[in-house]
Amino acid sequence: MSSWDNWLEAERERRVQSALERRLQVTEQPAEPIAYRGGARLVNLSSNNYLGLAGHPLLIEAAAKGAARGAGSGSSRLVAGNDPETAALEEKIAAFKGSEAALLIGSGYLANVGVLAALADRETAVFSDRLNHASIVDGVRLSGAQAHRYRHLDLDHLEELLRNSNAGRKLIVTDTIFSMDGDVAPLAELVELKNSYGALLVIDDAHGGGVFGPNGEGYAHELGLAGEIELTIGTFSKAFGAYGAYVAASRAMIDQLVSSCRTLIYSTALPPSVVSSVDVSIELVRVAGDRRDALRKKFEHFRTRLTGLGFDTGASMTQIVPAIVGVSERALELAQTLEERGVLAVAIRPPTVPAGQARIRFSLMASHLDDDLELALEAIESVL
Ligand SMILES: Cc1ncc(COP(=O)(O)O)c(C=O)c1O
Repeated sequence: MSSWDNWLEAERERRVQSALERRLQVTEQPAEPIAYRGGARLVNLSSNNYLGLAGHPLLIEAAAKGAARGAGSGSSRLVAGNDPETAALEEKIAAFKGSEAALLIGSGYLANVGVLAALADRETAVFSDRLNHASIVDGVRLSGAQAHRYRHLDLDHLEELLRNSNAGRKLIVTDTIFSMDGDVAPLAELVELKNSYGALLVIDDAHGGGVFGPNGEGYAHELGLAGEIELTIGTFSKAFGAYGAYVAASRAMIDQLVSSCRTLIYSTALPPSVVSSVDVSIELVRVAGDRRDALRKKFEHFRTRLTGLGFDTGASMTQIVPAIVGVSERALELAQTLEERGVLAVAIRPPTVPAGQARIRFSLMASHLDDDLELALEAIESVL
């Protein structure tokens, strides 16, 4: 056996022993309220297609029309990949977000990694909520900045770290809606703190976009704070039902990123089908008030019922509702039993969540039928 075989075997053994083995599973209709695994019908509580737009006929039509221009974009935006549709889409995103400019990037992961690595360097101190998404963690690491992780939502801890730092430039970064907890960042207080300490505030609105704001503009719009935040990153892969991501910021900031964001510069531009579907998804999100209302009713009802059953749903206030159960084995067992009873809800384990806080993560969609949610709640009750 080579040293690589030994290593692979030891790693596999370690993962299995600690219930951290991950497996790809084939799921049909993965973004629909009802999905199928091995032919079994499952109420899908694992998709981020929050508004139910991924299967919208107009989005599918837009993707097909885009694909007629070619299946791939052929090169990076900075080479020849910046077609007229992509350039026009950026203007549309800026108008939608109410920002001076916008930049389209391959995915939310690429946006976070690229933007943080481009803006921060060794002279910069970055202050990041401890439960921020992995792509933020990776971006901070890659930047080589002085990294400070503050306790989740703990403004006193953040202020202490800001006060003690004498870095030339300071940057605070937070998820708006935390992806595994469904709780929300205290944006008003973060704006105050960043103003007091001359820091830049970067928000990742992956789970807020489409769902919050009068027209789905995002969580900062919901709170009337969009104008106070220097840089917003968001993704079109969740409530928008498509793919790709954006940065909304000042023209000067976007110009800086165009010349320095390596995940933009060294990666092929999004394909025409995606550009066209994002374009239409913004229109659909704008007028999706009824879907937003339906989603809110569903997640509030679902969370209330789960808490009523005795589950720890943490501080969830959104469409992401965790049932925190503790050890990974328990979470895996629950997910397995739920699947046997017709519910698709995945177990989330470390390192995605802190050790001892494994959970089932439920995510709600506007397109869930009340009867199906009732079936799911009954199945959840039956596994207790
Ligand atoms: C908070 C957060 N940021 C970024 C991402 C990455 O976005 P994308 O899936 O578009 O790469 C995700 C999830 O995937 C997320 O939950």
